Amino acid sequence: MEFSVKSGSPEKQRSACIVVGVFEPRRLTAVAEQLDEISEGYISNLLRRGDLEGKAGQMLLLHHVPNVLSERVLLVGCGKERELDERQYKQIIAKTIKTLNETGSMEAVCFLTELHVKGRDTYWKVRQAVEATQDSLYTFLQLKTKKGEPRRPLRKIVLNVPTRRELTVGERAIEHGLAISKGASLTKDVANMPPNICNPAYLWEQAQSLAANYESVTAEVVDEAKMAELGMNSYLAVGRGSENESLMSIIHHQGGPADQAPIVLVGKGLTFDSGGISIKPGAGMDEMKYDMGGAAGVLGTMQTVAELNLPVNIIGVLAGCENMPDGKAYRPGDILTTMSGQTVEVLNTDAEGRLVLCDALTYVERFEPELVIDVATLTGACIVALGSHATGLMSTHNPLAHELLNASEQSSDRAWRLPIWDEYQDQLDSPFADFTNLGGREAGSITAGCFLSRFTKKYNWAHMDIAGTAWRSGKNKGATGRPVPMLSQFLMNRAGVKLED
Ligand code: BES
Ligand code: MN
Ligand code: ZN
Repeated sequence: MEFSVKSGSPEKQRSACIVVGVFEPRRLTAVAEQLDEISEGYISNLLRRGDLEGKAGQMLLLHHVPNVLSERVLLVGCGKERELDERQYKQIIAKTIKTLNETGSMEAVCFLTELHVKGRDTYWKVRQAVEATQDSLYTFLQLKTKKGEPRRPLRKIVLNVPTRRELTVGERAIEHGLAISKGASLTKDVANMPPNICNPAYLWEQAQSLAANYESVTAEVVDEAKMAELGMNSYLAVGRGSENESLMSIIHHQGGPADQAPIVLVGKGLTFDSGGISIKPGAGMDEMKYDMGGAAGVLGTMQTVAELNLPVNIIGVLAGCENMPDGKAYRPGDILTTMSGQTVEVLNTDAEGRLVLCDALTYVERFEPELVIDVATLTGACIVALGSHATGLMSTHNPLAHELLNASEQSSDRAWRLPIWDEYQDQLDSPFADFTNLGGREAGSITAGCFLSRFTKKYNWAHMDIAGTAWRSGKNKGATGRPVPMLSQFLMNRAGVKLED
């Protein structure tokens, strides 16, 4: 999709479609008013006759409106003016885009970016319009033999800003929105890919293709032989029941001086999590192909930072692995010596994510990182606690937690902090090893965070549990591309990228 910004008046636009808002009840926005005037009351007449109430998400497509140069006018219900919030704004944009895409307009001039959204400026509105557009047009058709794409798809969209002064900020918002959408789209593609195709080797191929496409990016891999040498026994144990070799892919974005300490992102990359010997129930097990959502999110974020060429050093780790039941598989009762030297008693082979991550978290010590963030579809308990709206954030370093929450707020990619107080640590006590991999029924997300915290003493660290946010279940099943916007925003802030003027 091609995006541009403009600051013009609606009656002067010569386009396939012009998009303007109508508030409830039947109240024209300022731009709709302008169109109404030159069309001699054509629009207000329709509203009076009851064609459109203005409820949020209502659409009315008009052709040949008198004296209007554009072929079509799309009236979009925006709800009550004073109630227009972020969520509604994004929903309205998404619905508008779907309507345009299905009704033959290949280009459009959109005035919805001029709507007033509480607490948000033009930069935000334009960037969110870009992200919501790209998100709503995303499809995963690679494995369908009949693609069924629209005959005349939307190709070009002009976003209008209120004043000429805001054109620069609008252009910057488009650039950022496109980079974030591109990363999120890669995250979705890789996450949606079935587990017979997307295995640890596939993640490694993705890392290599990123390196091939961007000057700033290089990639390396740690295979099972190397892991054995390094004593990554915990990571290796999880992959032992699988025919697919465990591979940890490492992506370097060198944007800053060579001696600058890198920010490290570690993604859980379970390309399939059957539960292993502690096998999961059958219903919905297909969704465990998404258990590499953390790795996919890190990969997508690396693409975004490379695309923006952020002037900082960032390392992304994709901890690829598959958890399967087998004669060679690890079992409940096994005691593993992790790379850190600490021993872990396995009480459930389905609590495998932490066993892979702990060795990856020890491995990254060698980069002497500025900070480390791990991203993982770690616990079902996180979905119980926060549902699918917020990512669970945990950190032992308050400033880092606040920085991440701030980035989440800025990017409208929500996260909510959970505590990891020492009180919870006792739930991991083991009679036989240093601790177990299972914290019991209470506070499952937090005890998983506690487990990881025992491997992150050497640097500032945060953990993001994306079990509820990485994909949607049900009839709209699919990867969401989260938390690419939040992580990208965090890194943009770190790189000193300006958003406003
Ligand atoms: N990948 C799952 C967590 C998960 C489950 C994410 C469902 C999203 C949806 C993880 O490996 C797992 O199985 N966790 C167990 C932990 C338990 C055994 C302590 C869980 O959440 O049940
Ligand atoms: Mn599991
Ligand atoms: Zn898992």
